[in-house]
Amino acid sequence: MIYRLIRSILFLFNPETVHNFVFWILRFLKWSFPMLRPFFSFNEVSNEFTINGLKFRNRLGVAAGLDKDGEVIEFWDAVGFSHVEVGTVTPLPQPGNPKPRLFRLVKDEGIINRMGFNNKGAEKLKKKIREAKKRIRKDFIIGVNIGKNKDTPLEKAFEDYAICLETLYEEADYFTINISSPNTEGLRTLQEEENLNTLLFEIIMKRNEIVKDKKLPEKNIFLKIAPDLNEEEIKKIYETAVNYGLNGIIATNTTITRDNLKTVIDETGGLSGKPIKTLSDSVLKTLSTLNQDRKDFVLIGAGGVFSKSDYKDKMISGSDLVQVYTGIIYEGFGITRKILK
Ligand SMILES: Cc1cc2nc3c(=O)[nH]c(=O)nc-3n(C[C@H](O)[C@H](O)[C@H](O)COP(=O)(O)O)c2cc1C
Repeated sequence: MIYRLIRSILFLFNPETVHNFVFWILRFLKWSFPMLRPFFSFNEVSNEFTINGLKFRNRLGVAAGLDKDGEVIEFWDAVGFSHVEVGTVTPLPQPGNPKPRLFRLVKDEGIINRMGFNNKGAEKLKKKIREAKKRIRKDFIIGVNIGKNKDTPLEKAFEDYAICLETLYEEADYFTINISSPNTEGLRTLQEEENLNTLLFEIIMKRNEIVKDKKLPEKNIFLKIAPDLNEEEIKKIYETAVNYGLNGIIATNTTITRDNLKTVIDETGGLSGKPIKTLSDSVLKTLSTLNQDRKDFVLIGAGGVFSKSDYKDKMISGSDLVQVYTGIIYEGFGITRKILK
């Protein structure tokens, strides 16, 4: 109720301005977040989930792109999520696409974005995670979603992923390889069989090298895929990910399709929120059928989760963990209470 009121005011303004304003307030209030914890301690340590030694205190997390630079990690911990995926981070800082690049589709409860990996770069993120780790609870998980800089040619994309892995290896609890953002030219072609083989080969080599040289544990690596794939493509990606020893798939990123929208809008970019739920659920179901016999490969559902019933749909579709982004914008931070209570 209260958030609905706040929302009606926030939605009067430009979406990116509101995002920056809310983050500005959250950064300012950072010291006070531990005090919020008792109000969000409902059920958050139930329904734990462990994958390859990494324990999530509940099944709900913040999807990549909301806290790209890890500015308010403490907040996500305080309001009851089990994890936040920061990033997408690239080796070098970059401004992203020209504004406007973020659009609300209120009638559809969706968002179109073409942010283009605006972020402050891997070194800055490393510092932010280090600072946050002093203040968050020990069981809060920080995943790092990694990508390539706009100017890096696709043939050299693996070098960018490797740099991010190396720079952030000690700080991240897990990594996600983002090859599904529609807003970096050509990125999605990395989902194609030959490109994916080369990329995953190089990334796994890099991880093994880091583990050996620095004597660090093997961290989980997930792959984030688009919802705009057919069953055959999903199967190929799944098999390649399993063959290279990846630990899971996040399904899905935003869609480039615009089916059944109530809003009349002609903007390029990725569509998220309620309009993509059915599409994302169906990708998850395809993956789940393929993954039936594996216990060591995790499926993470994202796309259109606004309520407990949406969350349950993801679980029924085969998800082990669930992530939200657009749902937080439309339902507020209390979404954890609605879903986990
Ligand atoms: C404004 C915006 C920015 C996003 N940025 C990223 C990103 O940098 N990396 C990424 O992997 N996904 C990104 N996403 C996709 C989300 O993480 C998520 O996969 C997608 O929006 C579907 O979930 P949702 O319907 O709950 O938003 C972004 C989504 C939005 C709305």
